Amino acid sequence: AAGPLVLGIETSCDETGVGVVRGRTLLADAVASSVDEHARYGGVVPEVASRAHLEAMVPTLERACETAGIRLHDVDAVAVTAGPGLAGALLVGVAAAKALALGLGKPLYGVNHLASHVAVDQLQHGPLPEPCLAMLVSGGHSSLLRVTDVTRGVEPMGATIDDAAGEAFDKVARLLGLGFPGGPVIDRTATSGSSIAIDFPRGLTSRRDLERHRFDFSFSGLKTAVSRWVEAKQRAGEEVPVADVAASFQEAVCDVLVQKALDAASSEGIEDIVIGGGVAANSRLRVLAEERAERLGIRVRVPRPGLCTDNGAMVAALGAEMVARGRTPSTLDLPADSSQPI
Ligand code: KG4
Ligand code: ZN
Repeated sequence: AAGPLVLGIETSCDETGVGVVRGRTLLADAVASSVDEHARYGGVVPEVASRAHLEAMVPTLERACETAGIRLHDVDAVAVTAGPGLAGALLVGVAAAKALALGLGKPLYGVNHLASHVAVDQLQHGPLPEPCLAMLVSGGHSSLLRVTDVTRGVEPMGATIDDAAGEAFDKVARLLGLGFPGGPVIDRTATSGSSIAIDFPRGLTSRRDLERHRFDFSFSGLKTAVSRWVEAKQRAGEEVPVADVAASFQEAVCDVLVQKALDAASSEGIEDIVIGGGVAANSRLRVLAEERAERLGIRVRVPRPGLCTDNGAMVAALGAEMVARGRTPSTLDLPADSSQPI
């Protein structure tokens, strides 16, 4: 394999990720998650996440180097998520990356979390098509982005005006008593239900909403609709058909996501869509996107689930691309920027 050997560190949310790539080749992707520690709170607790990153950082670094078969001194550069994300969580990764870069005498690259969700696809499907339309759907974001040069950032076309798609999965799973995180369990539960059993609303798709919010999403109305539907069943003393609710809810989310992503790509004359973020692991989203895109002559790239959720390999992938394209490294005063624009 050719290209720079880059170590990537990700700590923006609840995953401590350390990845190693050589150019576009993945060598190691070690992830330690604190998700179980957050489960009983029904969501990520920032303080708990920061402490977990501190404890997991060195063991995860060691595991990544061991898997990749490298020593730290071998790396050509250190890349780290500088934002957006949880401030305290980001600080742990940024401090670790600075220490490594300084100690090893290697360049440091602060990268944008959202751009790295897009860049990671290169590790599986080869050079990123540019321009491309990226749809990032996770617990924190639901955005449609235009990407002309992934190392120079991404251009927002639309985003959620309330809950993120993953947040909707988490909230609906909670009200169905399915646990946290909600996405994977709803995905599984939905396989035994009917997606057309209940006609849940598709947010921001009316003609009036499309005028102002053509590429924006809204999931809070859908969550409320599911909650009302479930409550009505319970009040009537009827059993809640959990699998049907899960499948119909999932269909409502995926339908809107795919519809708007295709519309955004078509409107820009873009022929490639890259989907990333935790929700991209959703099995129905993958099928629906591929089916509908094919009819429009649009190609869809979705990395395998392990690369869609937060990890260090995505940071290393974008870092390697920055090295390859001769971008200027960050200085050692690189800030962790929780609200870093995309
Ligand atoms: O990208 P990610 O790991 O973390 C950030 O939020 O940045 O995304 C986590 C989100 C959670 O809300 C989780 O419920 C959702 O991704 N998720 C899924 C699936 N797997 C994870 N949502 C739907 N279907 C899935 N299979
Ligand atoms: Zn993410």
